[in-house]
This record gives sequence, structure tokens and C-alpha cells, in this order.
Amino acid sequence: MPSTVSLPAIALSAAPPADIDTELLAVPIFEGDEMASDLRALDGATGGALMRAQESQELRGKPFELLITPVINGWRAARIAFIGAGKRSDFTIERLRRVAAAAALGARERRVQRFAWLSRGDLPVLKAVQAATEGIALSAFSADRYKSGERGAPPIDEALIAVSDGEPSELEAAINRGRILGESSNIARELSNEPSNVLTPTTFAERATEICQAAGVAVDVLDEHDIADLRMGLLLGVSRGSAEPPRVIVMRHRPADAPQTPVLGLVGKGITFDTGGISIKPADGMERMKDDMAGGAAVVCAMRAIGLLNAPINVIGVVPTTENMPGGRALKPGDVLTSASGKTVEVINTDAEGRLILGDGLWYAQKLGATHLVDVATLTGAAVVALGKVTSAIFGQPERWVELVRATAEEAGDRCWPMPLYDEYSDQLRSEIADMLNTGGRPAGACTAAMFLKEFAGGLPWAHLDVAGTAWADEAKPWMVKGASGVAVRGLAELAFTSEKWK
Ligand code: BES
Ligand code: MN
Ligand code: ZN
Repeated sequence: MPSTVSLPAIALSAAPPADIDTELLAVPIFEGDEMASDLRALDGATGGALMRAQESQELRGKPFELLITPVINGWRAARIAFIGAGKRSDFTIERLRRVAAAAALGARERRVQRFAWLSRGDLPVLKAVQAATEGIALSAFSADRYKSGERGAPPIDEALIAVSDGEPSELEAAINRGRILGESSNIARELSNEPSNVLTPTTFAERATEICQAAGVAVDVLDEHDIADLRMGLLLGVSRGSAEPPRVIVMRHRPADAPQTPVLGLVGKGITFDTGGISIKPADGMERMKDDMAGGAAVVCAMRAIGLLNAPINVIGVVPTTENMPGGRALKPGDVLTSASGKTVEVINTDAEGRLILGDGLWYAQKLGATHLVDVATLTGAAVVALGKVTSAIFGQPERWVELVRATAEEAGDRCWPMPLYDEYSDQLRSEIADMLNTGGRPAGACTAAMFLKEFAGGLPWAHLDVAGTAWADEAKPWMVKGASGVAVRGLAELAFTSEKWK
């Protein structure tokens, strides 16, 4: 199968708007932007179409409104796409990324091959250029890999980013960064979209190896024997019901001049299919559970970006991966497992499998020297009940670390909302016969799952992202097609560049 991840060539243009040679020049328009002086020339170029649309309120500047109009007066662009960007005061890096993605998706749907984005607004120019590049890259993603007949519109061939100020070499670097981060997100989306008969733990590990090695990241794949030698009883327990053997994907970014510490440890849930096991899930919608490795894909693809961008610190990625199946040898409710860390777990619901494999994953990341931990997982339906599909939930300790991870992720487009880890929640995990239960029942289900993980974080700075609601879009958005979102790739990658703030 050909990979569906290909990007347009994205280049910088310092030309004035009139000289940008493109089929479609996209221009963000803000609410209350009618008087902006730089719009006069654009209005002239379109024979007054801009002002007419603003006066008639066809174009008010609300996010994602789109007005496409021909250029009539000798500019080199054939058409201009004015796209609503909301209020100037609400124009964040994330808004910009989405608006640029929406403009590029709109262009793509209209079979435009040569697209340009005109940078406007008050954001720092390098961050703005990077985010616009990310948006354009994200718009190139397709989920039609398995269509043998008619496919959707092909990605744009070529995109220009037009900026009037800034140092060219820095702007080029921002484009390069945006391209790598956008492409890494798309690779994660492709992995998450893969059906589970294609993406087994074994093939997931093979794909991760190819992806990471091409980025200069060292990869080790632990097989079922290695996993048994390490006594990862939680991962082995979950894998018992499956005919597919488990794997642990271990990735290392080790730049020659990096300090010994800190070491960032990224841990991702890699359930390639979650049937629920013996505590089996209802049939309706179960097909969605092929993306229960989205956290693992995020870690693999963040490691790729970290390698390509050569982050200045040591980073370790750990992705335990297995199916959760109800086979004849499967884990049964009431079984007791011993984790690699020595803690014992009474499994009362085999569908709470993610926290089990992550428990051993977090332990292994520490064993390999991680000093700061982040895990990412499609962990609980309760996180979706609490926060919907609008934001991931973030938990962890200490607050400073959680806030740094949250803020970094949010700017990268991976919105996270803080949730509590009160000690009382661990009462719900108390077992009569083992150190803890694997579920705490329905109340505060996302919090008790996080409390379970906390037991394996060894007191290190640790953040847990529950991406059950954000990893998959049930509906298309102006900035995104349906399906896997690539959540957490950019946030995790950007985190590897913030180490001066970790003290
Ligand atoms: N993979 C699921 C969580 C999930 C649910 C992800 C919906 C995406 C969408 C996880 O393994 C799971 O089954 N969690 C259970 C835990 C429960 C048994 C305590 C859940 O949320 O119902
Ligand atoms: Mn489950
Ligand atoms: Zn699961």
C-alpha cells in the first residue's frame, strides 16, 4: 500500500502581495477588519469584492468563513480566498493553524495546485509562519489509502508563505520546523487509521522502526521473550487473550552534546485493538477501537520529529503494544497480575487494559533513565464524558510540570484541560487481596485511571494525557477531515525544546 502522507512543497515568498504567483492567495480577515489599511490593495485587486462582501456581511470575519473571488487588475494571483479568522484579540497560534489548514483544505477541495498564504495579524512572525506551515501540511492528509476506485482531491502541489518581515534564514527554519511537525502528525494519523488486521503489535513495531530510524532515532523492539525476562506482568497479562505477541517499542534520541540529565520519557498506549477482552465491549462502534494505539503513534511520531529537529536533550520513547482480546487463555476478571515494578493488581475489568500496559511502560521508561515523564493514552470513556471531543484531559504532578506540558501542548494545537488527582480517589482502587484494583468504578473514571498510573510514576515529574476524546474526529471540521487527528505529536515534540524551564 502506498503511504498517503505526502506534502506540498512549502516555500517562503518575500514578494509583495501583488507579485505572488499562485492560483489561490489565502488572506485571513478579522472581525472588525473593515478599516485595515493593508486590505485596501486587496480590495482593489478584487475590483471591490472585499468591501462589498464586508458591507453586505457575507464576510464578517467569523472563523472559517470563506469568500473566493477572482483577481481582476493584473496581480499575479489568479484568485483570492478571504478566510474569516475571528477577532484579532482571539487570534492565537492555534487559531492561525486551524484557519490556514481550513484555507488549504478549501483550496485542495477546489483542485487548486498552487496555493499561497498571506501572513497577517499581530502574532510573532516565526511562530506564525511555523503554524501556517503546519496547517498547510495537515491539510494534505488523506484517509483514502484503501480506496481502489475514486479517491478524494489530491493534496496541493506547492504552497507559498508570504511574509513581509523577518530574517529569511529564520523564516526558512520556521517553515522547516512546521513541515516536520505537520508531516509527523500526518504519519501518526495514518498509523491510527490503520485497521487492526494490518497494524498488529508486530507490524506497528516494524513501522515505528522504519519511521524513527529514518529520523536518526535509535529503535529497539522488545519481543515477548524480552518482555517476560523483564517481568512485565501487566503487559503480558493483557496480551494473553491474543494470538498476536506483544511488543515494546523503545526509541532513543541521544544527541552527542546533550547533558546527561534531564531525560524526557514519553510513554504511549499501543493497544492495536481493544475488544475489552473477557469484559467485552458492545458491538456498536467497536470498530473505533482500532485507534486505541493513538497515544503510541503520538510517541513514535513525536520521536521522529524530535530526531529530525535534533532536540537538545536526551529523550526516550516507550510504547508497549498488544491487542486486548478475549481468547481462550485471556485474562479473566479477578485475576491478579504482578507488574515489573513489583506492585500487584487485581484485574476486575479486563477492559481497563490501557493503564495496565502503561504501568509497565512507565516503569520501563524510568529504568532507562527518564527523569521527566509524559504518557499519552486513549484511556477512558469517562474523559470523553467529562470534556467531550474538544480537549484532552491532563493530570500529573507537580503542578509546575503539568502546567508546562499543558501550555506547550496547547500552543502546538493539542489542547489539554487540567483534572485533579486527590488522594481520596485511590480509595476506589483499594483491593482486598492485591495492592490495587485496576478500576475504580464509574465515578470520576478518568481520575481513578490517572491515580492508577500515578502509582507507576515513581514520584518523578509526570503528566498524563487522556486523549480518548481528541484522538478521533467523528465529524469533519473546517480544518480537519474525519478520523484520526494526530493528537499530541506536536505538543510532545515541542516539549523536548523547553528543558531550560524544567528546573
Ligand atoms: N480504550 C478504552 C477507552 C476509550 C473509550 C477510548 C472510548 C476511546 C473512546 C479503554 O481501554 C477502556 O475501555 N476504558 C474503560 C475503562 C473502564 C472499564 C473502567 C472505559 O472507559 O469504559
Ligand atoms: Mn479497554
Ligand atoms: Zn483501551
